[in-house]
Amino acid sequence: MSCPCVTLSTGQKMPLVGLGTWKSAPGQVMQAVLSALDCGYRHIDCAAAYGNEQEVGEALRERVGLGKALQREDVFVTSKLWNTQHHPDDVEPACRKSLADLGLDYLDLYLMHWPMAFQRGAEVMPRNADGSIRYADTHYRDTWKAMEALVDLGLARAIGLSNFNARQVDDVLSIAEHKPAVNQVECHPYLIQARLLAHCGDRGVVVTAYSPLGSPDRPWATPGEPRCWTTRACWTSPAATGRLPPRSSSGGRCKEELSASLKASLLLESSRTFRYLTSSCQMKI
Ligand SMILES: NC(=O)c1ccc[n+]([C@@H]2O[C@H](COP(=O)([O-])OP(=O)(O)OC[C@H]3O[C@@H](n4cnc5c(N)ncnc54)[C@H](OP(=O)(O)O)[C@@H]3O)[C@@H](O)[C@H]2O)c1
Repeated sequence: MSCPCVTLSTGQKMPLVGLGTWKSAPGQVMQAVLSALDCGYRHIDCAAAYGNEQEVGEALRERVGLGKALQREDVFVTSKLWNTQHHPDDVEPACRKSLADLGLDYLDLYLMHWPMAFQRGAEVMPRNADGSIRYADTHYRDTWKAMEALVDLGLARAIGLSNFNARQVDDVLSIAEHKPAVNQVECHPYLIQARLLAHCGDRGVVVTAYSPLGSPDRPWATPGEPRCWTTRACWTSPAATGRLPPRSSSGGRCKEELSASLKASLLLESSRTFRYLTSSCQMKI
């Protein structure tokens, strides 16, 4: 079963459903990616900051390439530039490091993970003595210019943003030679992002939803918080307590724009998910 796609401003087809790799533990993420590719996923969402791109790369090497089950062009791979590498001199080396870890010649999409820069260096979360984050003053517009060079070098087919608000999206658009193709933001039934979706949609920037299940295992979740995956109100039918939400008659923008990331336990149900995404939108927005 093929996964439905959205067309980016670059003309690339991006599969609507992707496998997220954040919090995928070493020793597990390779199997998750292999299982995902085997059962139809064609979009893998990675990031340098997840600390597991080498292992994701092992899975890609096993399944993708000459004489393998899939060709490079069959799989859409996204990676992200981390906040400590926003300085224009760090952007190309950071991209090349992700490419080397993933074992790829190019990324389909390279995102600026967050708008704010952290102090340059090897520490992923550089902190001051009082525990606060040590920021740097590199502006995301300067980082964007360095990311545009990656497209010209053929290292990334498309570049985009993540965690950017509407004003920041417009700010980048105002100086962009290569338009941001995507803005990846948190989006789920408890955070529907209706205004940002409309804003980006009007400008041809596709919004990818991260934490589409509300990220119940995110480190900062408070105990007892409602989990949108199993909360009846989020879905149109009481049958929503199953592992996959029910069909809904409510269509809409999220059908086009949600790129849901599901954990490995859901992978075998992917063909049902893909069929489901093609036919209707699950969320009430
Ligand atoms: N760009 C960014 O800044 C950014 C930020 C966050 C995430 N992301 C991307 O988005 C991906 C997904 O985000 P996420 O991991 O935060 O959130 P998510 O996909 O919303 O939630 C994942 C969690 O949902 C729960 N879950 C999954 N299947 C379930 C099922 N069948 N029934 C009940 N619960 C289920 C699991 O939690 P339990 O293990 O507790 O059951 C699982 O770990 C990431 O892997 C990453 O690629 C990007």
